[in-house]
Amino acid sequence: MLICRSVADCRAAIADVRAKGQIIGMVPTMGFLHEGHMRLVATAQDNADAVVVSIFVNPSQFGDASDLDAYPRNEARDLAMLKDAGVALVFMPDVETMYPAGDETIVETTRMANMLHGLVRPGHFRGVATVVTRLFNIVTPDVAAFGEKDYQQLQIIKRMVADLHMPLTIIGAPTVREADGLAMSSRNVRLSPQDRAAASVISRALTAAETAASGATVDDLHGLISDTISTEPRASLKGLDIVEAETLNAIDGPLQGPTAIMISVAFGDILLIDQRVVTP
Ligand code: PAF
Repeated sequence: MLICRSVADCRAAIADVRAKGQIIGMVPTMGFLHEGHMRLVATAQDNADAVVVSIFVNPSQFGDASDLDAYPRNEARDLAMLKDAGVALVFMPDVETMYPAGDETIVETTRMANMLHGLVRPGHFRGVATVVTRLFNIVTPDVAAFGEKDYQQLQIIKRMVADLHMPLTIIGAPTVREADGLAMSSRNVRLSPQDRAAASVISRALTAAETAASGATVDDLHGLISDTISTEPRASLKGLDIVEAETLNAIDGPLQGPTAIMISVAFGDILLIDQRVVTP
């Protein structure tokens, strides 16, 4: 497994892969890998000959410096996991490489970035779209895999790739869950044992909504989810959006077609997100 830290080294390694006629898959990550990431790697491997994983904790998508500083990191463990999984290349740039001095260019999906979770985390999706564009321009993948857990991110990246005519296919991979239903996330390790136990309420609320979806209205599902979350005193519901699954447009009344339920719940200062797409 090759490890590249500079753009020049990465481009040279990619040129070697291309010279063999291989299809390149990519999984952008911020490291501290878990089973959910490894599922993305497996998805990329199913759709490509050589998989590149990037590890870069992207400062521009964090709202405050303390959240960025607290983001967990374990480079040695990440590299061991990726080597075991048969990843061809790991790209690990530093901040100066991804954001060269004097840079001015940002990428933003104007509507989709400034709604839903984007309202709770202003600028977050601009940071994501900008860094993902830069990573794609360096690695030039043919396919890239993203998790469905970050549903808004996935839809934004699909939209961005279509709008900017980027020559690659985005594949969404299903969320990997702990035994109690909690979506795997690098943030989970920061939960206290009590909050970790309480956090299973998120998937219980989504499952209750999924079960009730047929014949339910948006208001019914709002009520059901809020009531379920409020049974857990450690949980604070921060965002709940029930939207048209592909466009993320607001809907009301009875569910008509594929509908995304997007939720963010805080446990202390840790914000967890999850989603479920339901079809009535
Ligand atoms: O989903 C993530 O881990 C990040 O948002 C991503 C896509 C790697 C961009 O920094």
